[in-house]
Amino acid sequence: MSYTANQQRYETMTYRKAGMSGLKLPVLSLGLWHNFGSEADDQVCNEVITTAFDHGITHFDLANNYGPPGGSAETRFGKMLSHQLRAYRDELIISTKAGYYMWPGPYGEWGSRKYLISSCDQSLKRMGLEYVDIFYHHRPDPDTPLEETMGALAQLVRQGKALYVGISNYKAKDAVKAIALLKELGCPCVLNQVRYSMLDRWVEADGLLDAMGNNAGTICFSPLAQGLLTSRYLDGSIPVDSRANEKRFLKPEMITEKRVELLNKLNTIAQTRNQSLSEMAISWLLRDERVTSVLIGARNKNQLLENLKAVEKPASFSKEELASIHAVLQVWE
Ligand SMILES: NC(=O)c1ccc[n+]([C@@H]2O[C@H](COP(=O)([O-])OP(=O)(O)OC[C@H]3O[C@@H](n4cnc5c(N)ncnc54)[C@H](OP(=O)(O)O)[C@@H]3O)[C@@H](O)[C@H]2O)c1
Repeated sequence: MSYTANQQRYETMTYRKAGMSGLKLPVLSLGLWHNFGSEADDQVCNEVITTAFDHGITHFDLANNYGPPGGSAETRFGKMLSHQLRAYRDELIISTKAGYYMWPGPYGEWGSRKYLISSCDQSLKRMGLEYVDIFYHHRPDPDTPLEETMGALAQLVRQGKALYVGISNYKAKDAVKAIALLKELGCPCVLNQVRYSMLDRWVEADGLLDAMGNNAGTICFSPLAQGLLTSRYLDGSIPVDSRANEKRFLKPEMITEKRVELLNKLNTIAQTRNQSLSEMAISWLLRDERVTSVLIGARNKNQLLENLKAVEKPASFSKEELASIHAVLQVWE
């Protein structure tokens, strides 16, 4: 399928700098954790990715283990890079990661130099790339010295296999240490990728955004709480084609009657703002300028187009709106 990108693609998207670096990311980024494995429909996947790019989403987030099966999201994205996206490589920020289980034996997960370097080589091969734009360590490793893991990230930059490096799922205390080590190695950390949404506010309790300061940006994953903060479950039922019905990371038992009631209350607040629930959930994160980008997933083009509406205008909330949202969230459990 041939593809020519929309000429107006940069007219509406806002780009924020990742910490002190020169790297700018779109405020909305697209992740390929779910919905882009080998079983997914080629046409739907291609349409989601090209629609994203047509709207100024330049950043696509992957990891070695995304699929299923692990590796297949990178293989799929690689195919697009050699066809539809071929002319646009220099307009794209492609990230991948290593940290979770990828292959058997002691070198197939966590944070050793052996694992990170091998995994990056495998990711580059699957995507047919000479380098990725951002390479992340996917999760802290309690058994490997942080110096070794950060040293491996810096090595990837020196080898030309990654332009920038980041960390993911690091809490404030460890993030600060990792950032300092990377700075010493002359290879600044540009981003910490963490779970953050209205329904999961550990980042606030941890003081993470304050701890990051200007040192590195923050990119928030699962901003829609994997679909809870959308219209998906508002009527209390579990759609057949939904993530909850896939029963992998989101499970039907997590959609309780009480939660549905609270989600409907949030939806009512969103309606008074002329937004859908998913739009409001994205705006709510973007109101904090320290958030570099909000990293969503999308099953299809319509979901993506709805979420893109959130970035058409600056994210602002009145004190009253924030208080009403806070009141609902306080009883969320
Ligand atoms: N670093 C890490 O450890 C880590 C962990 C998790 C994720 N991530 C990254 O973050 C990305 C996003 O995570 P996520 O997929 O959990 O994010 P999310 O945006 O919270 O959830 C995406 C899901 O929400 C539903 N959805 C999205 N927009 C919708 C809309 N407008 N209306 C109705 N439903 C909508 C879809 O669910 P249905 O499929 O049910 O339709 C979609 O698959 C991942 O792809 C990955 O790149 C990183």
